[in-house]
Amino acid sequence: MVTEQASWPADLGHYGGLMIRLAWHCAGSYRSWDGRGGCDGARQRFLPEMAWDDNTNLDKARELLVPIKEKYGDALTWGDLIVLAGTTAIESMGAPVLGFCAGRIDDVDGTASLELGPTPEQQAVAPCTRGDGMCEQPLGQTTMGLIYVNPEGLMGNPVPKNSVAGIRSSFGRMGMNDSETVALIGGGHAFGKTHGACPTGAGPGPLKSPSNPWPGTCGSGPMKGRGPNTFTSGFEGSWTTRPTEWTNQYFRNLLGFDWVKHKGPGGHWQWKPTSRKGATGAAATADLPNIMMLTADMALLEDPEYLKYTKIFSQDLEALNTAFSHAWYKLMTRDMGPYSRCLGKAPMLPPPQPFQLQLPAPPAKLPDFAPIRADIVNVLKADTENAAKFTRLAWQCANTFRATDYAGGCNGARIRFSPQKDWPSNKGLDQVLKLLDPVKKKYPSLSWADLIVLAGTTALQQAAADAGSGSVDLKFCGGRTDAADGQGTDVLEPRSYVNASVALADNAKVMGLTPREAVALAGMLRSTAQQQGLGYSGSWASSAAGQSRQDNSYFKVLLNNIWEPSKSAAGKEEFKAKGNPKLFMMPSDVAIKRSPAFAAHAGEYAKDNAKFLQALAGAWTKVMNADRFDGPAGNVCK
Ligand code: HEM
Repeated sequence: MVTEQASWPADLGHYGGLMIRLAWHCAGSYRSWDGRGGCDGARQRFLPEMAWDDNTNLDKARELLVPIKEKYGDALTWGDLIVLAGTTAIESMGAPVLGFCAGRIDDVDGTASLELGPTPEQQAVAPCTRGDGMCEQPLGQTTMGLIYVNPEGLMGNPVPKNSVAGIRSSFGRMGMNDSETVALIGGGHAFGKTHGACPTGAGPGPLKSPSNPWPGTCGSGPMKGRGPNTFTSGFEGSWTTRPTEWTNQYFRNLLGFDWVKHKGPGGHWQWKPTSRKGATGAAATADLPNIMMLTADMALLEDPEYLKYTKIFSQDLEALNTAFSHAWYKLMTRDMGPYSRCLGKAPMLPPPQPFQLQLPAPPAKLPDFAPIRADIVNVLKADTENAAKFTRLAWQCANTFRATDYAGGCNGARIRFSPQKDWPSNKGLDQVLKLLDPVKKKYPSLSWADLIVLAGTTALQQAAADAGSGSVDLKFCGGRTDAADGQGTDVLEPRSYVNASVALADNAKVMGLTPREAVALAGMLRSTAQQQGLGYSGSWASSAAGQSRQDNSYFKVLLNNIWEPSKSAAGKEEFKAKGNPKLFMMPSDVAIKRSPAFAAHAGEYAKDNAKFLQALAGAWTKVMNADRFDGPAGNVCK
């Protein structure tokens, strides 16, 4: 932090501010809508994130870390190094930190950030419909290329109160509440400075060259574009008079002065103090500190809740210490998913935090699953519809898993609680759970999560055997455990997309499935009654047998019929087969036929049932165990 390098001189002899900005821009790209973004993967090193205006000059910060990366080689990932650098910077300047969760895995390129934009992929998946500067969910930021909001104000207009809604909405889209938002902005801006030394500094904008993306043009001589001549955002100045020390001065400054907007040396609107609040005469204007605020900082004075926390933090350093240390840890860690992904030990690794939704430990001794399987088969036999019911329950329980941030999955069986049980897509599943109640009661050490997955797995296996045309060998890995509530899972609610083809491709990607796996899963058992319960007119299977036997009939029906768009009585968009008004498909089914990358697999499965069943077994096992990356504790897969 304090060993100056000629390549990029440090402000006030300390790299702390720069390293905090590096880490926060790496982690702050996270959005809760689809779990994309965040520093796990360290994609800030690649396009498109590398070229975001907000990431100007962060190549210099990463360059300063290269010797450390080289010293530890593959044992240290860029993701961990960047977060550790930011966290160490905070600690080195005297602020409290909660700790560090290691375990980020580096991506080999920036592909997984294409949907963050600005790219055609982002425009398809997460368009900015209200216009750049006012982007809403699904995007995490209001302005393309920035992390959260435009510092100069909404659409570049320096009107602080107009920034409030964008700050609240964009921080909210990343899972931060008002107290966390105020603590992060004011805690972060306790440190460092903004850089905008001259009006023609050539900061943000298109990359000039990959090896030297932002050649600074302010000043001249050996320090051209560097040190005091740095141009990054185009604003100039620091928020406090002691920017390398941890204080709550930021909040005291906001409240303690009258501020006026002016154009800084970089040509952007920013704010400077004009008088001391509460002072009169010459004392009000004498020796005003050389400090600044951004319009986005000034916005904290314009909202009652933000003002409340600004006042609290200005008077109570302890309150700020607690709020900032926790919010920073959350900012750095929430894209990592459950606590089990954090490597390291106490005291550096803190205990599980509320946002990590820690599950209770599984029972020390798991039940014998063989008799449970037999009991499930008995329930299956009671009604031909039960096979489709059990597979749907397990699928709905597990398909919330997101490979993007390791959230969701059936472990915890949170599908039993609000908000998940109330989602329209889960309608009727409470009744399916009731069918399993007697089995659950019989085995005290059996978790709901294991029972749900085992029931779906057993049903699928049985239905394939009943079809008589092939079989699937499905392994079951027990060891799941049950959560006490559904808290924190609202972000997993099924996403809505501009059309079914985009939804098909993106849902598969977010779940970590290949198109081939996603298509196989679409051919899973489906009952007409359940489809009707969801508001559709029916399903693709015309006979009861078709609904309780697992083979490749779905693909034959899908490919051999012409599907015409219609609407069910309940108002659901659906497709009915031309010439066979009893057969219905959902938009997601027809999207398979219409998307070349998916249709090819459907064609292959329609021709070869054995191949389909094998693919289905693989994809099913993958989805059911996707959230078991922590390893099945003491468990044997049978
Ligand atoms: C610097 C904007 C939130 C930490 C900056 C700069 C801008 C900015 C424009 C100047 C960059 C430069 O020219 O070098 C914003 C806005 C925010 C926000 C609009 C949200 C509304 C945060 C948060 C943190 C943070 C949440 C960390 C918790 C920093 C630090 C610097 C900085 C440490 C100084 C960098 C240096 O010294 O080189 N911010 N920021 N900011 N920001 Fe923020």
